[in-house]
Amino acid sequence: MSHTIRKAIFPVAGLGTRLLPATKSIPKEMLPIVDRPIIEYAVAEATTAGITHLIFVNSRGKSALEDHFDRHVELEEALMQKGKTAELHRLTDIIPTGVCWSVVRQSEALGLGHAVWCARHLIGNEPFAVLLPDDVIMADTPCLQQMMDRHREVGGNLVAVENVPANQTNRYGILDAGADDERPDGLVEVHGLVEKPRPEYAPSTLSIIGRYILQPNVFDALESSKKGVGGEIQLTDAMAALIDHQPFHGYRFDGVRYDCGDRLGWLKANVAFALRRSDLLDVRAALQDILSQSS
Ligand code: UTP
Repeated sequence: MSHTIRKAIFPVAGLGTRLLPATKSIPKEMLPIVDRPIIEYAVAEATTAGITHLIFVNSRGKSALEDHFDRHVELEEALMQKGKTAELHRLTDIIPTGVCWSVVRQSEALGLGHAVWCARHLIGNEPFAVLLPDDVIMADTPCLQQMMDRHREVGGNLVAVENVPANQTNRYGILDAGADDERPDGLVEVHGLVEKPRPEYAPSTLSIIGRYILQPNVFDALESSKKGVGGEIQLTDAMAALIDHQPFHGYRFDGVRYDCGDRLGWLKANVAFALRRSDLLDVRAALQDILSQSS
């Protein structure tokens, strides 16, 4: 089976309850980190890694997300007439030339596994990537690129992982990784996967984060999936069904993940990305000011 990954699924149909009321009428993925919506970071990561077909799994009430990737001819013309070329390019460069995008709908928020399954007809019979946009990853080499590089060596299925505090395993998909010897290539052999185990039952503290490279066989497992933890169709359960049949690895990526579906994670991402911006040199001083005033 080919190792080339051309297509990526972006599940964006969740309800975003942790960020209410901000997300009542604005999709969580459209909240900004500095001045770019969250979704743009994942899209840039995917296209930099060579993805040429972006598939958004969206839901009703979140059409702002689709509009963001569509052209806005009136606005483009206004910017052109005013000579605002930098602003114009920021609009036209959102999706690089040669990259196409599609939208499928998830009519009911039945879980991440179900959202991925909704994109099956657009994927067909080839390996693909899944990016959860609310996991924003700051890295010198984009996380998905790192994963593609490893995937060329090991094939099969690959999920990005990181250690989480032992008392938080019940929030994540957790790896049963056997002996964890921290290989220099970052790879971890996966023996099993458990969705949101209570700390006392967790086989490790290695958690799956929102980046996956999967074989299309996962759709068969999703097809026959029953609702799992939280009454949702869990991607973790479907992936677990592949483990004995195909290579399955975790990958400790280089970089920092910000959970932007959570208030503190989103705030931290804003500060971290602002501090890296060469056009916002006053951020550090502004933060120091705020801190000295609030102490
Ligand atoms: P989350 O667990 O963050 O859920 O979903 P959520 O609904 O977006 O947010 P909270 O927890 O209520 O605040 C992880 C990813 O899976 C997608 C979400 O859009 C997010 O990218 N998802 C989740 C779907 O696309 N459909 C679903 O039914 C559930």
